Amino acid sequence: MTKIIISGCCGHMGKVLASIIAERKDATVVGGVDIAAVCNEMSGFPVYNDIDKVDAEADVIIDFSSTKALEGILDYAIKKNIACVLCTTGYSDEQVSSIKQAANQIPIFYSRNMSIGINLLIELSKKAAKILGNEFDVEIIEKHHNQKVDAPSGTALMIADALSSVRSIPTEYVYDRHLKRQKRKPQEIGIHSIRGGTIVGEHEVIFAGRQELLTISHSAQSKELFAVGAVNAAVYMNDKKAGLYDMSNMIDME
Ligand SMILES: NC(=O)c1ccc[n+]([C@@H]2O[C@H](COP(=O)([O-])OP(=O)(O)OC[C@H]3O[C@@H](n4cnc5c(N)ncnc54)[C@H](O)[C@@H]3O)[C@@H](O)[C@H]2O)c1
Repeated sequence: MTKIIISGCCGHMGKVLASIIAERKDATVVGGVDIAAVCNEMSGFPVYNDIDKVDAEADVIIDFSSTKALEGILDYAIKKNIACVLCTTGYSDEQVSSIKQAANQIPIFYSRNMSIGINLLIELSKKAAKILGNEFDVEIIEKHHNQKVDAPSGTALMIADALSSVRSIPTEYVYDRHLKRQKRKPQEIGIHSIRGGTIVGEHEVIFAGRQELLTISHSAQSKELFAVGAVNAAVYMNDKKAGLYDMSNMIDME
């Protein structure tokens, strides 16, 4: 049984996470933390407004809160020698360095996208890019709801970064073609954003060759899948040694 502390338990993802864990037999919540905590208890576990007040015995902290919570989480996890699953997005470069440093002492799982499907799409796309080489043009299309303010999505960039890490030529990201009248260059990865309605999140990687087209796509139906991925990661991390882990460790492609 993996004993979990939820950081950000009163937020959207924290609540979904608590309800997903309540249905699992291999995990349980022993405490919650949220700076906006308005109650002392939530669905059977105690809630605190400061992680240092949590005195429950735990194996893993799952965090869906804010970048501001990072320092307190890492200090607490090192002090108690427990694992972290960090799902919050938007960390600065310095914060990513501090995560890597802390991973020398404790096991840390960090992913900007906790969907197993998206991470599998990334692994499959890397494999396709290696096999198809520079003969195929690569374009990424992402679609999200009309309330999303940033573009392209962090996940589209995560896919582009993964692809450029395996390409043999330096990659140039192109977000807009309307300003320049010129042909597409082989080193480009075109990244396109569509916004509308209530689309949860769709990502498509297109490999366009001579008279053939390969498309790898993923469609998210609800935010629940990120919580499911986070719980699976927490259970996976329960018996791990210190180090930095991500979804690629959970998806064995060999
Ligand atoms: N990695 C992924 O796959 C993935 C998926 C969904 C969301 N996220 C990220 O998770 C984070 C939370 O998303 P959300 O939709 O639940 O947001 P939310 O605003 O609904 O919830 C965040 C909660 O964290 C609390 N909080 C803020 N600062 C805190 C602190 N210092 N200590 C403790 N609690 C604090 C807030 O009071 C709030 O209740 C965001 O960064 C989001 O981008 C990541």
